[in-house]
Amino acid sequence: MVLVAPSILASDFSHLADEITAADEAGADWIHLDVMDGHFVPNLTFGAPIIKNLRPHSKKVFDAHLMINKPEKLIQDFIEAGIDSITIHVESTENIDEIYNILRKNQVDFGLCINPETSVDAIIPYLDLANLVLVMSVKPGFGGQKFMHSSLDKIRKLNELREHDSKKYSYKIQVDGGINEETAPLVKDAGVDVIVAGSFVFKSNDYQKAIKILKDQ
Ligand code: DX5
Ligand code: ZN
Repeated sequence: MVLVAPSILASDFSHLADEITAADEAGADWIHLDVMDGHFVPNLTFGAPIIKNLRPHSKKVFDAHLMINKPEKLIQDFIEAGIDSITIHVESTENIDEIYNILRKNQVDFGLCINPETSVDAIIPYLDLANLVLVMSVKPGFGGQKFMHSSLDKIRKLNELREHDSKKYSYKIQVDGGINEETAPLVKDAGVDVIVAGSFVFKSNDYQKAIKILKDQ
């Protein structure tokens, strides 16, 4: 069964704690937190202090997606905010091993993300370290964009690699961007384990129904 991680990027930012509680009660498996710095992506959201304040409002996995340059500079703050899984972009840093070592020492899961224009080959040297691989199916920075079908081949490739060498690779595959009732079956067929959905959940008037549709489709 696929896991669903609603992205609070599409929620009402004036009621973030209530929105997280509502998503939790509606059956969210993970809470997806999109951190943007206005440099790596042309948009700004929130950082570790806000996440730290949100942490007591749900026991679900806090899944942070860092769209920031040089995440190694802030990684300790995000760990201290109580995040369970931290995903960085391969395009955002030269220091992937350093970040992995810090996360591992702190027992925080390590996720690696690739942009639509980045191939799976770019992360192969680190794949055996990853708990999670995030395939962007839109250009990062904004919610509500159209799903890019080019992500499907990447998901299939990651799934095949994992099937061929299950001793070496133990990552979950996650997809992010443009997921709705039409695209969810496509990513599931390709082998995804965790679906991120912003607009489809938070712009709906029934979060529980939206999450159920993504799981059942
Ligand atoms: C985009 C973010 C996504 C975004 C997805 O940069 O990483 O998590 O919230 O939004 P939807 O589901 O609306 O495409
Ligand atoms: Zn995201």
